[in-house]
Amino acid sequence: MRIVVLVSGTGSNLQAVIDAVADGTLNVTLAAVGADRPGTGGVQRAAEAGIATFEVDFRRYTDRAAWNRALTDAVAGYEPDYVVSSGFMRIVDQHFLDRFPDRYLNTHPALLPSFPGAHGVRDALAYGVKVTGCTVMIADAGVDTGPILAQAPVAVLPDDTEETLHERIKVEERRLLIETLAGLAAASPAGSADPSATVTGA
Ligand code: GRF
Repeated sequence: MRIVVLVSGTGSNLQAVIDAVADGTLNVTLAAVGADRPGTGGVQRAAEAGIATFEVDFRRYTDRAAWNRALTDAVAGYEPDYVVSSGFMRIVDQHFLDRFPDRYLNTHPALLPSFPGAHGVRDALAYGVKVTGCTVMIADAGVDTGPILAQAPVAVLPDDTEETLHERIKVEERRLLIETLAGLAAASPAGSADPSATVTGA
């Protein structure tokens, strides 16, 4: 199963996927890592791991649809079975979604449908919930909508800041993303990344 991962930030969740692939925990091919802006930590991590990288800089496009088309073409060039948004802070349009139907996964640092949007951790903390968590879902054209594939709870501690809570959520988010990808790889008609796992003569 081939995946392309999209990032906007530091890519610590991406690093967990890279490590899981490297140590054999996750049997997928990381075909490429792409970003919506230059100089992300995520692309740097990928380059250091010898993974192909690309950038489709949102600010270089005056037309959002043109940026979506360019992103779609860049991702499609790597022929992924799944595309993973891992801290990719842009909403893609229908053109992109039609190219990868039910093949675009997203992670979110809250228990959807509560606290969607760019500040899921901050909003949960401000509301005063005692339990939040993370969600892996199939992304659609909405903001953190789409069918939920997996969720994990994380307790909010009395002295939590947005940063301390987000770090504990990310631990669960990484585990959940890797588990979800492993499950999809096991079920994928594309098969696993390990050629020795190919069944012949069955
Ligand atoms: C994750 O919590 C993701 O859900 C959110 O941003 C974080 C990504 O962090 N949108 P990193 O770039 O993987 O460190």
